[in-house]
Amino acid sequence: MEQYTFSYTVYTSMEEIPSDILALVNQACEARKAAYAPYSDFLVGAAIEMEDGEVHTGSNQENAAYPSGLCAERVAVYHASSVCGDKKMKRIAIVGGSRGSENSYPAAPCGACRQSLLEYEEKQGSPIEVIFCGVGIVPVYVVDSVKDLLPFSFGRENLG
Ligand code: THU
Repeated sequence: MEQYTFSYTVYTSMEEIPSDILALVNQACEARKAAYAPYSDFLVGAAIEMEDGEVHTGSNQENAAYPSGLCAERVAVYHASSVCGDKKMKRIAIVGGSRGSENSYPAAPCGACRQSLLEYEEKQGSPIEVIFCGVGIVPVYVVDSVKDLLPFSFGRENLG
């Protein structure tokens, strides 16, 4: 029997959160304010820190034709790649929760967003750290790499 394991960190109090992580989480909170989610009322913000410290953000954008909408993570990562070209992405912070809620349930990225983020991790050849939490901030989850969240993934090697 084979086993798949990975390690992650959980910060359960505000005092424990490293200041650089908290700063990016705050930028995701700020980005969340621009979410357009009239159908689900679930608002998500994402902030991507590039290798040079530049930050690119995104928020979920919904549409009356539901599948045409896009998650915050993909708005952020496609924007970052569009404007930064080959610059590497260091990490992404994601904050999500229903409108008006103080819920602390962590907003882990959906499967499609994991797949999209993995594409850039593989392209750049270095891990993108994934930080996610609810609107109550703690607990904050930190995973070292997108690939940890997507075992047995489909990638460019499948197309070779
Ligand atoms: N959503 C995100 O923005 N990111 C995710 O990883 C999961 C879900 C959005 C999509 C939709 O606008 C709303 O949250 C409810 O699913």
